[in-house]
Amino acid sequence: MLYNSVNLRTLAAFKGLLIVCACASVAHSLEYYTEKPSYMQTCRINEPEFVKCSTSSIQKLMEQLSIGIPEVTEVIGTFDPLKVKDIQFSQDNQGAVQLRANLTDVVATGLSKLIIKESKVSKKDYSWETKVYIPKLRLEGQYKMAGKILLIPLNGAGHMFIEIDKLNILMRTKTRLYEKGGFTFYNVTKVRMELTPGGVKTNFENIFNGNSKEVERSTNLFFNENWREFFEALRPLVTETVETTLLEILQMVFHLIPANFFVEDIPTSTELYGKGKK
Ligand SMILES: *[C@@H]1O[C@H](CO)[C@@H](O)[C@H](O)[C@H]1NC(C)=O
Ligand SMILES: *[C@@H]1O[C@H](CO)[C@@H](O)[C@H](O)[C@H]1NC(C)=O
Repeated sequence: MLYNSVNLRTLAAFKGLLIVCACASVAHSLEYYTEKPSYMQTCRINEPEFVKCSTSSIQKLMEQLSIGIPEVTEVIGTFDPLKVKDIQFSQDNQGAVQLRANLTDVVATGLSKLIIKESKVSKKDYSWETKVYIPKLRLEGQYKMAGKILLIPLNGAGHMFIEIDKLNILMRTKTRLYEKGGFTFYNVTKVRMELTPGGVKTNFENIFNGNSKEVERSTNLFFNENWREFFEALRPLVTETVETTLLEILQMVFHLIPANFFVEDIPTSTELYGKGKK
């Protein structure tokens, strides 16, 4: 490829970041790295120590997310604390656990302490299975809730926090490979998570909409004393919140960084899926 000197200088200024389109509003989805960043560790899937290498590679990526990857930070802000998108949640027809909840202005803290325990990649379809540990994950913000938790009918709105200790996450991620500028990229299409908490602390202010503070206190106490059951009731809401948040970040990161920088011997999308299909 030929560049004039102005382009070369521009390119150098972006340290390997290629700007395909100058349109500001969509630029972030069209930028990608053409040089491997120094924090990246590259692995080969056909080598016996792949899982060990991949685990350490994804750990380094997560550490860099905490330090800040400029193209990501520009869009989502910091990784810890992390601003969570508003969540509208409703769960019906499930017997005792009927819940509608809206979460707004939620901030998640603790993600920078995240540990990748294992990162597996399937050679068959390049889906991932990742084991993650977070010592303490705290979600704090405004809630509106109507429904029942542990048979208690709730109808409130206000400030809340949920603090999850020793959280193990099994994350299953679906991807679709695609080509861009001579590199192969992961399109992260789906994330499913199984959360296993070691403990849950919580407080929902104004959980009965202005009724007795004393009942509010004792209800929150009851939730904390029965945190396992409480978490089961809130599991779909918490899981959806974490999945939605992580999916957006993963999509952004993997549209930015070529899959070749993670897995050197990754096939091209044509090699993996065959010619006829996209
Ligand atoms: C959540 O927000 C939606 C849309 O604003 C609203 O229809 C719904 O009633 C809210 N849910 C609760 C539990 O307040
Ligand atoms: C990624 O997948 C989504 C949904 O499956 C699709 O809409 C999008 O066009 C894909 N992006 C690329 C770059 O292939």
